Amino acid sequence: MAKRIGILTGGGDCPGLNPAIRGAVARAFDYGFEVIGILEGYKGLIEGKSKPLKLKDVEEIVGRGGTILGTSRINPFKEKGGVEKSLKNIKRLKLDGLIAMGGEDTLGVANRLYKECKVKVVGVPKTMDNDLSATDYTFGFDTSVTIAVDAAERLRDTGRSHRRIMILEVMGRHAGWVALFTGMASGADWILIPEERVDIDKMCRHLKKVHKRKNYALVVTSEGIKIPGMGAEKEKLDQFGHMILRKRGVGEDLATIIKEKTGLETRASVIGHIQRGGPPTLFDRMLGTRCGVKAADLVAKKKFGRMVALRGNEIIDVPLEKAVAKLKTVDKKWRDLAKVFFK
Ligand code: F6P
Repeated sequence: MAKRIGILTGGGDCPGLNPAIRGAVARAFDYGFEVIGILEGYKGLIEGKSKPLKLKDVEEIVGRGGTILGTSRINPFKEKGGVEKSLKNIKRLKLDGLIAMGGEDTLGVANRLYKECKVKVVGVPKTMDNDLSATDYTFGFDTSVTIAVDAAERLRDTGRSHRRIMILEVMGRHAGWVALFTGMASGADWILIPEERVDIDKMCRHLKKVHKRKNYALVVTSEGIKIPGMGAEKEKLDQFGHMILRKRGVGEDLATIIKEKTGLETRASVIGHIQRGGPPTLFDRMLGTRCGVKAADLVAKKKFGRMVALRGNEIIDVPLEKAVAKLKTVDKKWRDLAKVFFK
């Protein structure tokens, strides 16, 4: 009898997931596997929501954003009976392997399911935050930064016209990759990331200098920064213990402070979920596709407990536990590079 594999996408969606699903399904068919799409991430695994994936379901999705399977931030280890129900559904669906596409949280669960419950799982790294260890880049990142760069350049135009300080707040959660790359690629005058202490006075002195020179200035800030002296608001946590950051609107707080300290008119914009939608870039289409194909190869080779990864230009596989052990944050080398342009 043909083998059956399941695919699920968990956590925040990102461009590149559909190419990855297409890659995995197309490759699975080369091995003669049947493929079952699990709907809405682990929620669907717990609730037994699934549908067979055929060629017609995937052959036109390479350029489509989001995930055709749907997603959720549900953690089976946090739901009453979640793990038992998941295992029951894996058995009921007769899955010989499960491909879990996700970030730190989804892959963390995949790793536990593999280690603690012997689920035959393979991981595919995705996240617009690019904060997963053991892989050079995750798909979703390139597209979201490309969109944010476009937004930054639009803010620059209006900021220049009105002689204003413009602030763009981008996503990225506890890692500053999105802000750093957006800022560098759009020629921002200051970049704020969670990995570095925020020095308001230094920033304001610099912004005044820049404004004097060119009549405006652009700041890119990560949503995850902490402004000294501002008490952390009580925020709801998701099932993975992460703060739901977007509600805090750090860009607005910064705008108030900058206006007060510099006397310069300041405006803030939050790009938010716009960053996560739309067609994937070439890079994300190719990376997603290659990761999906490799994931099906790993299942065929019974290399479970592994995650697909990008190393240089090669797609390799690494232990899942290595990928989820530590968040990949922005190091000093990158921070110093960005500062070359704070003139
Ligand atoms: O992890 C990806 C991400 O886009 C973060 O950058 C952001 O903080 C979070 O998801 C937003 O989550 P949600 O879509 O659940 O609001």
